[in-house]
Amino acid sequence: SFNMADRTGSVKQQVASLVKSSLQATFPDLSDVEPQVAISAKFGDYQCNNAMGLWSKIKGSGTEFKNPNSVGQAIAKNLPPSEIIESTSVAGPGFVNINLSTNWISKRIKDMLVDGIQTWAPILSVKRAVVDFSSPNIAKEMHVGHLRSTIIGDTLARMFEFSDVDVLRRNHVGDWGTQFGMLIEYLFEQFPNWEDVGNQAIGDLQEFYKASKKRFDDDASFKERAQQAVVKLQGGEAKYRAAWKKICEISRSEFDLVYERLNVHLEEKGESFYNPYIPDTIKELTDKGLVEESEGARVIFLEGFNIPLIVVKKDGGYNYASTDLTALKYRLQMEQAEWIIYVTDVGQQQHFEMFFSAARKAGWLPPAEEKKFPRVSHVGFGLVLGSDGKRFRTRSSEIVRLVELLDEAKTRSKAELIQRLENNGTISDWTDEELEQTAEAVGYGAVKYADLKNNRLTNYVFSFDQMLKNQGNTAVYLEYAHARICSIVRRSNKDIETLKKTGTITLDHPDERVLARHLIQFAEVVEEACNNLLPNVLCEYLYNLSEIFNQFYTNCRVIDSPEETSRLLLCEATATVMRKCFELLGIKPVFKL
Ligand code: ARG
Repeated sequence: SFNMADRTGSVKQQVASLVKSSLQATFPDLSDVEPQVAISAKFGDYQCNNAMGLWSKIKGSGTEFKNPNSVGQAIAKNLPPSEIIESTSVAGPGFVNINLSTNWISKRIKDMLVDGIQTWAPILSVKRAVVDFSSPNIAKEMHVGHLRSTIIGDTLARMFEFSDVDVLRRNHVGDWGTQFGMLIEYLFEQFPNWEDVGNQAIGDLQEFYKASKKRFDDDASFKERAQQAVVKLQGGEAKYRAAWKKICEISRSEFDLVYERLNVHLEEKGESFYNPYIPDTIKELTDKGLVEESEGARVIFLEGFNIPLIVVKKDGGYNYASTDLTALKYRLQMEQAEWIIYVTDVGQQQHFEMFFSAARKAGWLPPAEEKKFPRVSHVGFGLVLGSDGKRFRTRSSEIVRLVELLDEAKTRSKAELIQRLENNGTISDWTDEELEQTAEAVGYGAVKYADLKNNRLTNYVFSFDQMLKNQGNTAVYLEYAHARICSIVRRSNKDIETLKKTGTITLDHPDERVLARHLIQFAEVVEEACNNLLPNVLCEYLYNLSEIFNQFYTNCRVIDSPEETSRLLLCEATATVMRKCFELLGIKPVFKL
């Protein structure tokens, strides 16, 4: 069986390391020059773009080289011999075009079919990462922003996990703060026997929150009791702890309904977890001379920001920033994470930039421009809009119930599936369970894909009609494309497992070569999506894969052709890569549609 330690890395990484050897041989004195290798569609498969930059470094220093082109020539000539590269050519000011060996491409695909797609997992330099995502607030609305965070964060976690990174999936729920005083007091008031009351009886926590807030604003003695309740809760008084726990549990079971549907796993370490460690953090920051007094609060002044970061409020209480600084310290020091990734709407960008900057000042992190580990990143995303271009809401109520939203996606996808099967007379081939599971995979997949395919920073319009279309760049279309490839392999009546072992892949037709080249780029796409924290890069790759496959399938007969074995293997490799893409995007593949 395959050992992850034996991975070869992406093709781009392998080409880059050959270029690196050449650069070292050609310019022994410039050992720190990084290879610049890019995918090239027109001239060859990859292009090395180091020559011009090197030329500007060495010209006028009595170098033997005459111009950038001669630098490119030397880089090409000094590439170590390798089975990967078939030929090179040098163009213009030293661009080195690199052609991969077609035999090597065939072999790489064939090896993947035999040893599994995990052999194509990229090699990343990070060993352990925290992905802080979803993170809704107890007793408050879990809104579409949290849905986006859940979907994007889960995909990032999946891509890192696939790349053999140890991922700590953290749900940083807002489960602490002064609002709990009022919630607890309201619980006592409305449910005197609250300890024995079932969670359902308490009902909708958002309504509960609103009602308690109203009480708090309207009734001075309630307000007073609520404020005392905070003190008792923070002092650890058992009854108040228990009430707090109950309120958290009710919220948690609501959140879990969403996570279950989305098949997302998270480990909850909410704000309350870090609370006991905050005084230590503040002490450390104070001892380091970072904390100053300002208008009664304790703050950190940071370069480049016109407001200071408040770390202790006027009333002596802690806040979002003191909790985040403490959580960061914990993740770096106790959990030894090298990369800490936070997924929230872009509206919180300033908060993240400010406490990152404070952490750098405290010496917990190297300067940002060094691009070293440990590293922190804020993965911001845009708004979800309704068809009216305004912030997305359902028709019936002012807030969107996420569970209902997901259920609607499934209901709609099921209706469409049934309609289509009735139209083409194949509904009798389907069991109820198959219908149900397919509708679910396609419906939830559609919601996720509609979110992930956009660059996360842009706002996007939530539209069931759009996302459930079976044409264009949608999950439905891609699910169809995958199921169709599976059916080609099935209809051949060949035992694909045997072919994987005994068959060979030949790439004589240009469309076979184009498809094969796209397949072997899978690893570098995942690598890029991870390094830049951009899931849409993987969606784009997946969509292109289906288009490139179509081109191949249009021009290359598969079944009963002389090249049948090789082409079936290309079909199988395409389906395998598509399935891994689905999996990384958190979408269940379907095999029959
Ligand atoms: N609870 C916050 C919200 O709903 C998100 C928390 C994000 N994570 C963090 N470490 N600040 O906006």
